[in-house]
Amino acid sequence: MVKARRFIFAKHFVGEPKEDDFRLAEEELRPLKDGEILVEAVWLSVDPYMRAYTVKRPVGTTMFGSQVARIVDSRSKAYPVGKLVVGHWGWLDKSIVDVEKQDFTGLPKPYIIPDFQGHPESLALGILGMPGNTAYFGFLEICRPRAGEVVVVTGAAGAVGSVVGQIAKIKGCKVIGFAGSDEKVKWLTSELGFDNAFNYKTEDIAGVLKTAAPNGVDCYFDNVGGKISSIIINHMNEFGRISVCGSISSYNADVSKMPEATILQPAFASKQLKMEGFLVTRWSDRWMEGINQLLKWIVEGKLKYHETVTEGFQNMPKALIKMLRGQNVGKAVVRA
Ligand SMILES: NC(=O)c1ccc[n+]([C@@H]2O[C@H](COP(=O)([O-])OP(=O)(O)OC[C@H]3O[C@@H](n4cnc5c(N)ncnc54)[C@H](OP(=O)(O)O)[C@@H]3O)[C@@H](O)[C@H]2O)c1
Repeated sequence: MVKARRFIFAKHFVGEPKEDDFRLAEEELRPLKDGEILVEAVWLSVDPYMRAYTVKRPVGTTMFGSQVARIVDSRSKAYPVGKLVVGHWGWLDKSIVDVEKQDFTGLPKPYIIPDFQGHPESLALGILGMPGNTAYFGFLEICRPRAGEVVVVTGAAGAVGSVVGQIAKIKGCKVIGFAGSDEKVKWLTSELGFDNAFNYKTEDIAGVLKTAAPNGVDCYFDNVGGKISSIIINHMNEFGRISVCGSISSYNADVSKMPEATILQPAFASKQLKMEGFLVTRWSDRWMEGINQLLKWIVEGKLKYHETVTEGFQNMPKALIKMLRGQNVGKAVVRA
């Protein structure tokens, strides 16, 4: 019999998630049925949507999330023992996975990780996985950047933002990033090639935009929402495009006490701006196109990545809390 551990989503979060909002349970796994595989987690992901989506999830269920796992037993010919597979079956260290099943997120069903040409398999949770595709499709399809345009990215040093900024550079744009520490700002400019980056916690946003983008902003990739986004939108050029990826500045907020909305309609009407929200699952049928292009750019030396690793499956809640506090550079992952 195989023993497995899983984290249960035990309490709805109030403000920041806390370690005791989760409960670790242990169980014996049943034998496999046809079409199922037994997997052992190698890498697990912690992502901002875990904070946002739990609001509507029932307590007492297995905490959801993606992982990279090794197949240790298989009753599916297409998923042989020994292969590494990525999928969204939750915070478990060992799992029985029905390879045909898609969960509530609409992410692709489990797939065997392609050859990453020497790059770590954990990237299947980051730049060569969901966050990478979020950057690739969410930026290129919605902002439709043109060479020479000015692009602003918030959450710029995170899993999605750091890729958006680099893709914008590949496309010949000028890139300005906002992130939450001086260390992150330095990484964006000295390692990733951003033209400018600013610490949104210490800088006057309107002031630095005037200096860094004196002729205005053409594309804005919004990871954070809130006041900073209103300031950026008010600094946009005619026919500017805004891709709304997320609003992490509000994820821990009490929904009954949200700030009153800034009036943005004058900027939208007078500048003829276009704003569009998206979920990366819109491009599930083009998933491998994104992964293959991102891998090609990595191999060509045009895209760089960084991971912030937390050790130990038992530290999943800690890793989520740390990421939401901004204690990650690039993608936050857990080594099981
Ligand atoms: N639409 C989609 O399909 C889709 C898919 C994936 C992700 N997303 C969204 O994309 C965004 C980034 O996700 P990610 O996976 O790349 O996460 P991430 O940026 O790697 O990590 C989260 C980061 O958010 C920042 N943050 C935390 N609190 C903040 C606040 N109050 N104001 C501003 N920034 C804050 C922190 O960086 P700082 O140190 O810079 O504050 C933290 O490192 C999130 O909004 C997420 O929900 C959307």
